[in-house]
Amino acid sequence: MTAPILPPDAASIRKAADLLAGGGLVAMPTETVYGLAGDATNPKAVARIYEVKERPVFNPLIAHVASGEAAFTQGAFSPQAMRLAKVFWPGPLTLVVNATSTTTVCDLARAGLDTLALRVPAHKAARALLQALSTPLVAPSANPSGRISPTRANHVAADLGKKIDLILDGGPCSEGIESTVIDARGETPVLLRQGTITPDAIDAVWPGLAEGGDEGRPVSPGQLLRHYAPDASLRLNVETVEPGEALLGFGTSSSHKATLNLSPSGDLAEAAANLFAMMRQLDGTHERIAVAPIPMEGLGAAINDRLARAANQG
Ligand code: TXA
Ligand code: MG
Repeated sequence: MTAPILPPDAASIRKAADLLAGGGLVAMPTETVYGLAGDATNPKAVARIYEVKERPVFNPLIAHVASGEAAFTQGAFSPQAMRLAKVFWPGPLTLVVNATSTTTVCDLARAGLDTLALRVPAHKAARALLQALSTPLVAPSANPSGRISPTRANHVAADLGKKIDLILDGGPCSEGIESTVIDARGETPVLLRQGTITPDAIDAVWPGLAEGGDEGRPVSPGQLLRHYAPDASLRLNVETVEPGEALLGFGTSSSHKATLNLSPSGDLAEAAANLFAMMRQLDGTHERIAVAPIPMEGLGAAINDRLARAANQG
């Protein structure tokens, strides 16, 4: 049986909350990507998330909560960490802090670590669902581990529809790439994953941002080199398209006609929002995808990070 896809009205939020309270799994729209939500306090539900995604159990999950106040009871926040939370929540920011002794997020969800990743999402449907429950929800991106993250309900249905209980359709995700992850435990913040909240935006609130780990030794266990991967091969920063390649364009940077264009006007936010959906679309029709150069400024760094991982054959 395939999971029903429902609009996130009051009745389906109620149904989703009941399913989650009973240990079920619900695909939940957020402003970044769709998450595969389960009750963070229920090890059986969490175990099912790892199983459904075929995710290595050493890779911890993000706990989603309805408010900053709820987060502050789960994790220990320094004054600076709290300032980031106050500026950017609700929104596409995840903060890694030390778990408190009273945290209700189960060990399995934290992969046995004494730290905890927390996020207050901004999407209306995610907020409504979290408010309808008294427990945090863990929600990794709703894709098989290592594959392209879903930014539409039908992406989730295609990848995981037969393995989960319900899909809430909140429309296309406005941000399009996963949240920025910051290790907020120390004197200065550390960037563990790039996202649409840029290093400059973090630095303006809490100066001294450091880049976490290098490519070979990811600090966030989920930051694997090959990730977001299509079946097709990807060639990046392409100036000259080869015969048989589809071109994923950006702006008017290429003299070749783009098969699909991330943003004809060269808008990086629009490109981020389109990235995963267009990669999926071209993956369905082509074996080789060429990607036009994307500038590294602002959001471009996060987009190039995802593209580099998707292109990595190793
Ligand atoms: O935008 C998002 O963050 C989406 C939506 C659904 O909220 N979720 C998401 O979850 O991207 P996931 O599981 O695909 O990625 C979570 C990332 C992984 O790289 C994981 O290793 C890292 O966060 N992470 C989780 N807990 C951590 C911890 N305690 N310390 C360091 N990294 C952690
Ligand atoms: Mg993911």
